[in-house]
Amino acid sequence: MRWILFFGALVGPGVFCREKFFGDQVLRINVRNGEEINKVTQLMNSDNFMLNFWKLPNTFNRLMDVLVPSVSLQPVKSFLQSQGLEYSVAIDDLQSLLDDEVKEMQWIEGKERSGDDFNYGAYHSLEAIYREMDNIATEFPDLVTRVKIGHSFENRPLYVLKFSTGAGKQRPAIWLNAGIHSREWISQATGIWTARKIVSDYMKDPALTSILGRTDIFLLPVANPDGYVYTQTKNRFWRKTRSQNPGSRCIGADPNRNWNASFAGQGTSDNPCSEVYHGPHAHSEVEVKSVVDFIQEHGNFKCFVDLHSYSQLLMYPYGYTVNKARDAEELDKVARRAAQALASLSGTEYQVGPICTTVYPASGSSIDWAYDNGIKYAFTFELRDTGHYGFLLPASQIIPTAEETWLGLKTIMKHVCDHLY
Ligand SMILES: *[C@@H]1O[C@H](CO)[C@@H](O)[C@H](O)[C@H]1NC(C)=O
Ligand SMILES: [Zn+2]
Repeated sequence: MRWILFFGALVGPGVFCREKFFGDQVLRINVRNGEEINKVTQLMNSDNFMLNFWKLPNTFNRLMDVLVPSVSLQPVKSFLQSQGLEYSVAIDDLQSLLDDEVKEMQWIEGKERSGDDFNYGAYHSLEAIYREMDNIATEFPDLVTRVKIGHSFENRPLYVLKFSTGAGKQRPAIWLNAGIHSREWISQATGIWTARKIVSDYMKDPALTSILGRTDIFLLPVANPDGYVYTQTKNRFWRKTRSQNPGSRCIGADPNRNWNASFAGQGTSDNPCSEVYHGPHAHSEVEVKSVVDFIQEHGNFKCFVDLHSYSQLLMYPYGYTVNKARDAEELDKVARRAAQALASLSGTEYQVGPICTTVYPASGSSIDWAYDNGIKYAFTFELRDTGHYGFLLPASQIIPTAEETWLGLKTIMKHVCDHLY
């Protein structure tokens, strides 16, 4: 026992039992037309290859990224060749990328433990992110409070930072959500960076100061803490929650298919083993339910933004139907301006559109729920990149990503403040 504790302390949490990906590759398949969609659908429906789909083709980008375990590489490549499907190897040594990622994280967290400031250009453990949230709230008591809105399935606290300059008053509010899909690490990293940005720029940046003069901002940097811990201890590519499914050996539901918005509709699965399993009922996932209860109790949210990765997209409702949202025109205009502001920093291109026709049907998503429950300004970002690194976006891109995203977020929040309803 002591040995384990000793070694655990030495090499950091989780290193021993992390699932390995030796010899696995990420393939990028070019899906050029409807016929080829049918062919890759065969691949998607075959369980025996144990594929993990990272990105599906969308309206703007026909490439599909899929993680193929080493044992399936030959059969999958043969299938692709026999079907005339064009593909390339996007990542040919997955395990070495993962090893580098862990090493860098541990090196930086080691330095932070011995007194360095939180490094916003690095990925962090849940504990480190929570500690930094605490620091921010302690350093800026007049602006920030840490609110516990509930807990996860495995009983980890769900912490929100509330930024408010109107003490006591229940102002119109903006919800910023990050990390609902645990493997999308750039999301949580952008979330915590944004918290620091808000406290640093308040009273310096007139646009932000004016936003905070009229609204409160609530920021949830890690919406799926169990999943996040799991990506750092067991499987880097875990997406769902970690709830148990009675009668199934498979764990978790997709927390972005679990909201009460055309629940269990198209673009979801009723198979608990699926990555898009919608869960047994709407809001079955306590992480989702906690946010829903908080937002409903508050009653005055005007904006909901969900941060995901990857694909460089900025989308708005609906995901559950191809029908246009009532406010589609306005939302599209705002999103286009936000994408323009984002691109102004270093040229990163985002595509804009409603979820359903931009990527694919997705029922039970957070922003559809927000929109159908009276929160008009509902947007979802798919952050960097477009697939070179995918979920393994190098830490060197955290700050550039967060900085450009901030310009997009500010455009949205400014519009919300100028159009309070
Ligand atoms: C979902 O929304 C419908 C109304 O659209 C409501 O009747 C139902 O109670 C809601 N379910 C949950 C779990 O909130
Ligand atoms: Zn996501």
